Amino acid sequence: MATVENGTEQFDLGWMRRTGPWNTRAPRGKHGLTLADVAVGAYGEAPDESDNQTGRPRGAVARPGSYRIGGYAVRSKSEIWLDNASFLYEEALQRQWSSATDVPWHTIEPLPDDVEQAECQLATFLTEVEFVAGDVPARWVSLTTPDFLEPRQVLLAQVMDEARHMDVFRKRALANGGGLMQATGATSGFVGGIDLSRDFTEMSSRLHVSGEGAVLTLFRMGELMAQNEAEKVIYRLCAQDEARHVAFGIMHLRYMASAAPERREEIHCYLDEAEAGIIGAANPVGQLTPTSESMAIILGGGKANFDDGMNKVIAIRRRQLGEYKKRVISAGFGERFENGRSGVDRMIDHAA
Ligand SMILES: [Fe+2]
Ligand SMILES: [Fe+2]
Repeated sequence: MATVENGTEQFDLGWMRRTGPWNTRAPRGKHGLTLADVAVGAYGEAPDESDNQTGRPRGAVARPGSYRIGGYAVRSKSEIWLDNASFLYEEALQRQWSSATDVPWHTIEPLPDDVEQAECQLATFLTEVEFVAGDVPARWVSLTTPDFLEPRQVLLAQVMDEARHMDVFRKRALANGGGLMQATGATSGFVGGIDLSRDFTEMSSRLHVSGEGAVLTLFRMGELMAQNEAEKVIYRLCAQDEARHVAFGIMHLRYMASAAPERREEIHCYLDEAEAGIIGAANPVGQLTPTSESMAIILGGGKANFDDGMNKVIAIRRRQLGEYKKRVISAGFGERFENGRSGVDRMIDHAA
């Protein structure tokens, strides 16, 4: 603050002495200046336990009078950390796309009424699901200490991705003579249950690994479901984003397994719950839902080929289980498929 003494301005430049580690020159790599590049020295040190409740940026000098603004519940590194968060964040930034201009909307042409209704029903369902996928990580960002900035940044990017997914399926529903259909209630079933998680890893195993994993498998079948180039592009771009969200969950579980092995059994319990959700969704007897029926009409090419379409839906459900299993093995929890704990293999055999 400037003061005036004897007509001369005196400046208090004390702030110039209060710096974090100085002489820091983050090296620029071949991908520009990434978040990983600036994780140098003390700036790169995420503590195992964080006492930062003030929103102080990691590496900045603490200010004694700061209010405890955060009330952060996630302050143990193992609760949220993963090794490749910086990479996932940079990739998210580089691969942002516009649902307004990157989708060739002009390739959508009028469809038979039953197929358009099915497209709109599926788009309604996906809008509901994407709503949860954005809402829940946003809540956890606000609960996480800023010392764990890399996973926070990835989750913030995910929220942006999900905002785009929410709007692109809304746009699809309104683009071709149809509109939104009745809400399926996905926000109150298994998907809605994601938001009842009390622990970040519990949430991540439900959201990133089982929920978004199943959605990723579905989007990757977009070539089969798309009626036009616009829908193909929508599924392809959404799958690209979803793959990052799923990778976050797998890499986090992997970190958790090594940093906090005492929590393995607890994590298996989360996976039991998450699995119950996708196994329930894969049960052929339970396929007469608006979502599965609309997919059967889309995959069959109309109501007249419903049975053929439903066989394809069941094949997709089986594939969702198979890919889920691979992800859990990759996350380091594959023993559940060896010791009979998981019901996934039985369901895959049953559906075959
Ligand atoms: Fe999404
Ligand atoms: Fe997602």
